[in-house]
Amino acid sequence: MAAAENSRIALPVGTNLDRFIMKNQEAFPYATGELSQLLRDLAYAGKVVNREINMAGLADITGAYGGQNVQGEEQQNLDVAANIRFSRALQKGGEVAAVISEEEEEMIHLNRNGGYVIAIDPLDGSSNIDVNVSIGTIFSIYRRKTEVGTESTMEDVLQPGNAQVAAGYILYGSSTMFVYTTGAGVNGFTYEPSLGEYILSHQDMKIPETGSIYSVNEGSYHSFQPEVKEYIEKCRERGYSARYIGSLVADFHRNLLKGGIYIYPATAKAPEGKLRLMYECNCLAFIVEQAGGKATDGKGRIMDIVPTELHQRVPFFVGSKEMVEEASGL
Ligand code: AHG
Ligand code: MN
Ligand code: MN
Repeated sequence: MAAAENSRIALPVGTNLDRFIMKNQEAFPYATGELSQLLRDLAYAGKVVNREINMAGLADITGAYGGQNVQGEEQQNLDVAANIRFSRALQKGGEVAAVISEEEEEMIHLNRNGGYVIAIDPLDGSSNIDVNVSIGTIFSIYRRKTEVGTESTMEDVLQPGNAQVAAGYILYGSSTMFVYTTGAGVNGFTYEPSLGEYILSHQDMKIPETGSIYSVNEGSYHSFQPEVKEYIEKCRERGYSARYIGSLVADFHRNLLKGGIYIYPATAKAPEGKLRLMYECNCLAFIVEQAGGKATDGKGRIMDIVPTELHQRVPFFVGSKEMVEEASGL
């Protein structure tokens, strides 16, 4: 972690995101401002995507509004649309050398003079769009390994989570939030649509050490490994609440605030787990650790996994420290 971004400046609730990022950068005289700009670019693209998501239901009921099939196609393709919004914002910004995205098979080369690479899930929980349920965006930021000015390589994008310089998510929920870390704690900003600003609402977020919420798709229970089944049995015996939205970001966010555990284990359908290491798990692992929680794949720390593939899947146990330790035996 470079000290330049590893600041911990206490700013009051109500501070807007741009000011928060700027003040944190000012604390380090040698910071170039590239990372700050990059975070602002992502936050801006999030506003555009938020606007489109808010229109999703309307576009659906006004079939005549923009043509017959187009509305339907738009909506099915909102994850592709989100991918375009984020890619454009990153391209314009110029700080990013390469992107890996859930929506792109290969890495995308952007600006060879950019110092950073990004892994992104532009729209997480996309099956929830057309039923008006919370969805999100997840991103990880790394400093590139290869020399600035050259075309980035796989070495730049296949870095372990412990090399992240920043990570965050945008939750499009009952309100929209931008939550991020640069390795100096986690801060959450709520979007105020009439101002068009994200406002600091959740300072230095900490996840409770333990909790009584477990989030897992119990429909696949029969194919879980015995240890996972055992843990779920314990949750049931203790009368914990089962809460599963089916949007990782939303389930994660609730557990971050209230204390709880999210599990996506290996299943018969997804023997390696379903979630992707590079643009789902690493990011949330960084955030949860910064908030005092834990993230494992059932064998070890998520952020220490050395990735071998862009779209690598891993089992995922994330949330309150004590719960993750008990569930994953670590
Ligand atoms: P995405 O929409 O980006 O493909 O991610 C969906 C993920 C995650 O958000 C969610 O927790 C999980 O898939 C739900 O999967 P199941 O329906 O198998 O439970
Ligand atoms: Mn996802
Ligand atoms: Mn997605």
